[in-house]
Amino acid sequence: MSLLPTYPLTQIVQARPFIKWAGGKSRLLAQYKPFLPTDFERYHEPFLGGGALFFYLAPQLQAQEKRAYLSDLNPELVNVYRCVRDEVEGLIEQLAVHKELHGETHYYEVRSRLQTEPIARAARFIYLNKTCYNGLYRENSRGLFNVPMGRYKDPKICVPDLLRAASSALQIADISERPFLTVLDHAKNADDFVYFDPPYHPLSETSKFTAYSRDRFTAEQQTALKNAISQLATRQVKVLASNSDCPFIRELYEGFEIKTINAARSINSKASKRGKITEVLVIA
Ligand SMILES: C[S@@+](CC[C@H](N)C(=O)[O-])C[C@H]1O[C@@H](n2cnc3c(N)ncnc32)[C@H](O)[C@@H]1O
Repeated sequence: MSLLPTYPLTQIVQARPFIKWAGGKSRLLAQYKPFLPTDFERYHEPFLGGGALFFYLAPQLQAQEKRAYLSDLNPELVNVYRCVRDEVEGLIEQLAVHKELHGETHYYEVRSRLQTEPIARAARFIYLNKTCYNGLYRENSRGLFNVPMGRYKDPKICVPDLLRAASSALQIADISERPFLTVLDHAKNADDFVYFDPPYHPLSETSKFTAYSRDRFTAEQQTALKNAISQLATRQVKVLASNSDCPFIRELYEGFEIKTINAARSINSKASKRGKITEVLVIA
């Protein structure tokens, strides 16, 4: 037995997104920082995805004993977050097995085999997320994950310290599968802060790129989101909302405070289209 002292690694590793997710906000957080409120008790993120802003705020939320309400419409994603919060060691064990077996045969076998047990489902999701082409979550019309294997030298299939840090951060979180409008049932007054990061409105007809098949996020839904934000504002709820920088969104949010954010999109397959893209951050 080692006589060396052991230190809880979760306190050293800073929690950050543990999955790759289209529209992930990690690179933009520095630009959001000046607009993040500090005087609130409850944090809500109803389009959770990779949860970049939640993990960024987590140390502060934890230190001040605040609660987080995280939700998304994607049931697989919600199951992963719950398993990371509640069953992280079991999940790490299963990911270690995937890491060991990783290869073309294993990938396609895992891809074709649906799981029902929550930890196995979560391990399958993370394994495919880390090894699939471009890390894109995409399903076919029958709801099956159909992305081919990616070519990575050393995919980060099992990173125990990162998962434990995420698990520790998620202890303050309620995690649920529900549509974004239900945030109206939870965010009630000036003690609430809501960050909305919906699927972006397409910049043009040709850029109608939908990374997540479940969410055809229509112009009507963008309008419903804007109306929800107006309603929250009348309750003094603090709101930030990201979206694409296009005439439709700028017109929709006329009268709101709008900040322009510089974003380089790595998701665009054409190198020439990467970079020099702006997004908007709506403040209410
Ligand atoms: C742009 S991503 C969020 C990215 C996230 N902020 C990050 O940093 O990774 C949008 C998310 O909204 C979810 N979504 C789409 N339609 C929704 C709806 N109607 N209600 C709730 N969530 C929805 C998708 O499953 C997806 O995870």
